[in-house]
Parts: sequence; C-alpha cells; structure tokens
Amino acid sequence: MAKKLFIETLGCAMNVRDSEHMIAELNRDELYLLTKDAKEADLILINTCSVREKPVNKLFSEIGQFLKHKKHGAKIGVCGCTASHLGEEIFKRAPEVNFVLGARNVSKIREAVAKDRFLAININYDESAYAFGEFRQNPYKAYINISIGCDKKCAFCIVPHTRGEEISVPHELILSEVERAAKNGAKEIFLLGQNVNNYGRRLSGGGKNKFNFSQLLTHISKIDEIKRIRFTSPHPLHMDDEFLEVFSSNPKICKSMHMPLQSGSTDILKVMKRGYTKEWFLERAEKLRAMLPQASISTDIIVAFPGESERDFMDTVDVMEKVRFEQIFSFKYSARPLTTSAQMTNRVDDTIASMRLKILQDKHAAILDEMTPSYMDKIFEVYFEELRDNGLVAGRTSQNSTVCVKGGEELLGKIRNVKITQPQRLILYGQVV
Ligand code: SAH
Ligand code: F3S
Repeated sequence: MAKKLFIETLGCAMNVRDSEHMIAELNRDELYLLTKDAKEADLILINTCSVREKPVNKLFSEIGQFLKHKKHGAKIGVCGCTASHLGEEIFKRAPEVNFVLGARNVSKIREAVAKDRFLAININYDESAYAFGEFRQNPYKAYINISIGCDKKCAFCIVPHTRGEEISVPHELILSEVERAAKNGAKEIFLLGQNVNNYGRRLSGGGKNKFNFSQLLTHISKIDEIKRIRFTSPHPLHMDDEFLEVFSSNPKICKSMHMPLQSGSTDILKVMKRGYTKEWFLERAEKLRAMLPQASISTDIIVAFPGESERDFMDTVDVMEKVRFEQIFSFKYSARPLTTSAQMTNRVDDTIASMRLKILQDKHAAILDEMTPSYMDKIFEVYFEELRDNGLVAGRTSQNSTVCVKGGEELLGKIRNVKITQPQRLILYGQVV
C-alpha cells in the first residue's frame, strides 16, 4: 500500500513548483500519495523560504509541532532555501529531522527518503535539464520553471546563496512541458524564474540558448490550447524595448507586469546593486503605461534598507505615487546571512522602519481607493480557477485582479466575460454576461 505524504510549502511560486516536482517524484510507482492531514502522514516535508528572517524562525517551532503530532516512525524532511543555507545546523537544532534537501537538489528526493539521514545542499548542483514527472496542484494554471538561480547578487538578497547561479532550462524542455500541461487542460502558463527576462543567457553545461525571453514568449503563444501566459519575476533592468513590444502586442500575454522597484532612491538602488536609477525605472513604467494603458503594474518594495534617509524614503513614495501601482508587496528590510548588506552598520531604527512601512501601505491603500470605483460596470475576460465559499467561484482578469461571481464547478477552467457590479479593494464581484 502506498505511504502518505504531507507537504507544507512556504514562500514564493518557485517553491510551489519545487513542491510539485517533489510530489511528482514521490508519486512515481505510487511510493507516496498526498494527504492533507499531517497526523496520518508517513513523510512530512517542509519546503522552506529564507528570504526574510521570520519564516526561518517559524521553521523550528513548526518542526516541534509536527514532532508532537506525527505518526510513530514518520519521517521529516526540510527542503528549500532554508535547507540550503542552514544545512547541517538543522540536524543540530532538530536532531529528529531525517533529511535536509536544498533548493536545486529536489530531484534527489527519492534518494533522501530511502536513507535514514541525508543531506544535499550543493547550490551548484544543476538540475535544470532534469525531466520531472507531472504533478500540478492547479490543473488550470501550470507553473513552469524557465530558469533556476540568480546571478544578480542584490545586496539584500539571500536567493543567490540558496539557489545558486542562474541557469536557463533548455527551451525544448519548457515547450514540451507547456504542451503536456495544455493536453491536461491548462489554458494558462505561468513562467517562473528569479530573473525571467534574462532568460537564455546560460544553459546547463555552458553555451547560450537559441531563444531570449521575448522569443520564448512568442513560441509558447503559438500553442493553440494556451490562452494566457504570465511570468514572474522580470527585472526592471532587462525591460528593453523589444521586451515591452512583445509584452504589449502579443494578445496571449496577460497584461499584468511585475516591476520590482525595491527602492525609489537612486542612491539606495546603487548600494542595493539593482543596476538602474529612479529615472530609468520611471521612464520604463511610463513607457509601458503609454503603450498599454489597460495594463496593471505590481511591485516589490523594501523600506528601511541600511542608510535609507527620510529623503530616500520619500523618493520611494514619489515613484509609487507617479506609477500608481495596482498592487504592491512591501517589506521591512531584514538582514540576511551571507548578503553584503548584512555587514552594513548604518541600520535604520526599527520604529522608523515600521512607520515607513505603514506610511507606504496607507498611501497605497489611498491610491487603490481612488482606483477601485472605476472598475464598476466594466466588463473583463475572466479565467475561472478556484471554488470559494458561499457558492462563489474565483478567477482572474488578464490584469491579475481577482474576480468572484456566483457559480460552481461548471465555470472552472472556463474563460467568461464578467461585468463588475461591486468592486472592492482586493476582490471585484460581478456577474457573467
Ligand atoms: N527575483 C525576485 C526576488 C525574489 S525575493 C525579484 O526580483 O522579484 C522577493 C522579494 O522579497 C524581493 O523582491 C524583495 O522585495 C523582498 N526581499 C528580498 N530580500 C529581502 C530582505 N533582505 N529584506 C526584506 N525584503 C526582502
Ligand atoms: Fe534576489 Fe536580486 Fe536575484 S532580488 S533573486 S538577487 S534579482
């Protein structure tokens, strides 16, 4: 009889995909089948995130909880970015853990579960060309990795130290995954990488790819069954005219762009090693708004990076108010091991950091409050992908707004026109027309 697997996934979409890859490997020959109940699992996997300090601290309290409730003899594995950077230390702090499997090593999951103790955290291990089995938590939207790792080394970011250098997945593998997902009913493809619009720079085993990111998008869009293409994260530095042109003109590419700003201050951007200035970012965003007024723009912002003055912070507010992002993900700076900014001594006081975060979020809420009523009575094409409580079904517009209508399974996987009857900040309610 197949054993049972419980998996908890923290962090970003790449972790979600890594979890799907591990589930697929463990499903082979029905070695393990998924359960939603950790208490009945024979194997508990925690796929961790280390981008900020909080989730790392949470890991050990969570292991403690699992140990209290797990079935006798059940194994525990810690995977992902925190596994990469803490490695052996996880065994020291939690000796009951059976294996530690770093991001970029997830193809070794069957080897890990077969042993009593296993550690694989080599961030140079190259599994970019590994053909994982097929498993998707959401059959309507297919996540596909197009590159692993990141070469950018932004001063605040631990990712290059947990996911290694950037390697592009061969385009043949990506296209065959897209076709397989399409055959299984996915109409939407979500391409993943830390720096997607740098795609094609370095292939496994050296050499350059035939395609750059814009060409990859064009190829995927030729597959008939695929109606929507999304991607995350692009880097503002690589948003050249060719990329903006393909983004604007290809009808299958969803009109929602993520432009991670991080800071609006040119001085801070320089220390962060982001490679662009405030003016460059504004010019790219304004060009996009001019080319495609209906597109939405989302962003990531860090407040209180070491040395951030009040003026630097006001530059960030200024960019936010000029671009009027439809969505922001904002964070207080968190010093991370192995990063260059962790050595900086000019830290911003935590009270000031919290205040800045609140100011930024309040100002953004005010922008949304001005924007939201304008959605009233508008008609959007919505791709439905999730059942919600109270007889509602949710989907997304091309601009990535969440829309809910009354309905059920009959709408899942369908694209329908919806008229918005009750726009709210986070959800637009409407009816199919
Ligand atoms: N490659 C992705 C970044 C992944 S990390 C990108 O360019 O979008 C996701 C986000 O977490 C980053 O964009 C950044 O805003 C935030 N982040 C990363 N390191 C951080 C840190 N040390 N403190 C606070 N936020 C951080
Ligand atoms: Fe991190 Fe910068 Fe890469 S934010 S993932 S080092 S682009």
